Amino acid sequence: MNLKKNIQKANGKLGILIPGLGAVSTTFIAGTLAARKGIGQPIGSITQMGRIRLGKRTENRNPAIRDFVPLASLNDLVFGGWDITPDNAWEAATNAGVLDTELLVRLKDELEAIRPMKAVFDHSFVKNLDGEHVKHEKTKMDSAKALMLDIEQFKQKNGCDRMVMVWCASTEVYVEQQEIHQDLDKFEKALRDNHPAIAPSMIYAYAAIQSGIPFINGAPNLSCDIPAIVELANKLKVPIAGKDFKTGQTLMKTILGPGLKTRLIGIDGWFSTNILGNRDGKVLDDADSFKTKEVSKLSVLESILEAELYPELYKEMYHKVRINYYPPKGDDKESWDNIDIFGWLGYKMQIKVNFLCKDSILAAPVVLDLVLFIDLAHRAQMKGIQEWLSFYFKSPQTLQGLPPIHDIFQQKIKLENTLRHLMGEKLINHLGLDYYEEEQ
Ligand SMILES: NC(=O)c1ccc[n+]([C@@H]2O[C@H](COP(=O)([O-])OP(=O)(O)OC[C@H]3O[C@@H](n4cnc5c(N)ncnc54)[C@H](O)[C@@H]3O)[C@@H](O)[C@H]2O)c1
Repeated sequence: MNLKKNIQKANGKLGILIPGLGAVSTTFIAGTLAARKGIGQPIGSITQMGRIRLGKRTENRNPAIRDFVPLASLNDLVFGGWDITPDNAWEAATNAGVLDTELLVRLKDELEAIRPMKAVFDHSFVKNLDGEHVKHEKTKMDSAKALMLDIEQFKQKNGCDRMVMVWCASTEVYVEQQEIHQDLDKFEKALRDNHPAIAPSMIYAYAAIQSGIPFINGAPNLSCDIPAIVELANKLKVPIAGKDFKTGQTLMKTILGPGLKTRLIGIDGWFSTNILGNRDGKVLDDADSFKTKEVSKLSVLESILEAELYPELYKEMYHKVRINYYPPKGDDKESWDNIDIFGWLGYKMQIKVNFLCKDSILAAPVVLDLVLFIDLAHRAQMKGIQEWLSFYFKSPQTLQGLPPIHDIFQQKIKLENTLRHLMGEKLINHLGLDYYEEEQ
């Protein structure tokens, strides 16, 4: 039996601070408000609807996860954020067009009260957007300080006991790690020097962690995935997690990929294309922003299939991912996957997947679980990169040099075992020989 970790109680209010009041964040906020009013079900959320097996299969102990680990209650969540447009959450949710007006109207007062603070924005990082509701500080360090002041004022005004920050803003252009990202001293100097390789998402991450607040990165841009920010998080004992919420086509890939690999089915090619018409699609229509997304999406299959270990099956695989902006689709993304596979004696077969999905509907429960779990991690004195939350990400952040796990089923086992570990329960390895040994 493990020792139960010392976890502080989830008393008081938990502030959820969100850069980016767009489709994902308003769908998350409105859905959470609906769930706490009992007018909508939080489907897809492990913290709200999931169960966990404890002990042996014969013990029949399968408590709800929210009864097993001490999580903040939905009633204690308070929402705030920043955006480059001044629209409140009601206006933003209405514009996003994900949820029905009929539902939104019932939440109108609460949504209208959520007004974004002025954003830290840099057009060179999101070329297809322009914002008027933005801060104009002299240096990037001044911008970080302005965000820290926002955070403190939000905390006071709303009487929050704890807070978490989750990046739901637009995908930034592709940036490679540079020298100034390598340690905290260099990074802080670069903030003061207004270095062009510091993206707004890094400034938010820095401000959150400096304020002692866990940070989650829902987009594929680097943000907290640089050594300087990891160093800060470890130093201040703050948990961080990223990157890029796992939804839609990539979710399907991490369900199908491990399935095919498990049966040693070969793959010649996997062509994935998407059409979507929301603002995220518009941002990704810019080649540099798409490059960030592409890198995040491509790495998934390569890691799952391990071509270096199975060259006969996967070495020649041609993998292509495309995203096309097509306004009539709105948030209703449509994706097609053509998978050319081969089996026994090399005989060829094909799988076609046509997924008509609602991206933000899949992302909302991911946001909810992440904010509740990272708050749990913080109360359990866990710091730095939270790899056990890989389950929720397309491109999980890990220790530098440590290959991430992409297989969604392995990720789930890791998540559940971490919860068991925290609560002093025996880890489950699915060996199961003990049942048969007891028989003899
Ligand atoms: N929808 C999904 O399933 C999904 C999955 C994985 C990742 N993501 C990522 O989540 C993010 C949000 O997606 P979305 O569909 O809500 O997009 P969206 O365009 O509807 O919302 C993004 C919001 O961020 C704002 N913004 C841009 N730069 C900002 C800044 N510097 N500070 C504050 N606000 C800023 C924009 O004005 C916009 O309101 C995107 O990066 C997207 O790639 C979404």
